[in-house]
Amino acid sequence: MLPQALTKEPKQLLIWLEHIAGMGYRYADLNLGCPSPTVTKRGKGSGLLRDTGLLQSFLDDVFSRPLPTALSVKTRIGYESAEEWPRLLEILTQYPFAHMTIHVRTMKEQYIGGIHPEAFGEAVRAGIQHPVYNGDLRSVADVENLLQRFPKTEAVMIGRGLLANPALARQLQGGEEASRAELETWYMALYEGWKDRFHATIALGRIKKLMEWTIGGDIRRKRLLKRADGIEDCVRAILDNPRTL
Ligand SMILES: Cc1cc2nc3c(=O)[nH]c(=O)nc-3n(C[C@H](O)[C@H](O)[C@H](O)COP(=O)(O)O)c2cc1C
Repeated sequence: MLPQALTKEPKQLLIWLEHIAGMGYRYADLNLGCPSPTVTKRGKGSGLLRDTGLLQSFLDDVFSRPLPTALSVKTRIGYESAEEWPRLLEILTQYPFAHMTIHVRTMKEQYIGGIHPEAFGEAVRAGIQHPVYNGDLRSVADVENLLQRFPKTEAVMIGRGLLANPALARQLQGGEEASRAELETWYMALYEGWKDRFHATIALGRIKKLMEWTIGGDIRRKRLLKRADGIEDCVRAILDNPRTL
């Protein structure tokens, strides 16, 4: 597990790093990617990318002393526009980040807007240490294509692709696709966990949202899922109906 900080205050970051180092962590990550308005309007997450002067003085301050843990960064490639990336890259490459994860979108593009894999290529060419690619990897083929295009990729970060297919990491290591039984067990475990913490209706809403990632544009299964009024119905809607796409 890699603990992550969402801050624009060097002192706050340092205190937190000391705290987690005391808990035994040796690595931590700095979030320069979160696009949520509640975060960006406070100048944190991808909000820190908006003002490069502030970003630079923040990082100067952070790295002006020995840190209690190694620090990596997770960044987007701009705030408003991908044209900001060369300048951001120039700044980010000045500091000894343990690795750099690049979500190849701007803040404005949130999670489904345009995507700019070429920005990752630029970072690799700029010689960043330990480049990690992030954004829209959904299948083994997606990762293979990426590695073919950018052979220097050291690792990938996969978010929604793993929610849609929890066996994707196993498949990337040559393993099997998830069986129906495994998927059912996974959905039931998530549902039961959420039901213990929240109301059953909220747990069902969450599981439906998660399942939507697996459906994509399949309108028939989407309709079945919407109508489902219990977890068993949801599981059947997703797992026992042939894809229509
Ligand atoms: C609901 C949600 C919560 C997220 N929370 C975090 C977070 O706390 N830290 C982080 O670095 N990225 C977070 N992300 C962004 C993902 O790590 C990732 O950058 C983004 O989803 C793009 O990758 P993907 O296409 O593989 O999902 C979150 C994404 C979503 C959809």
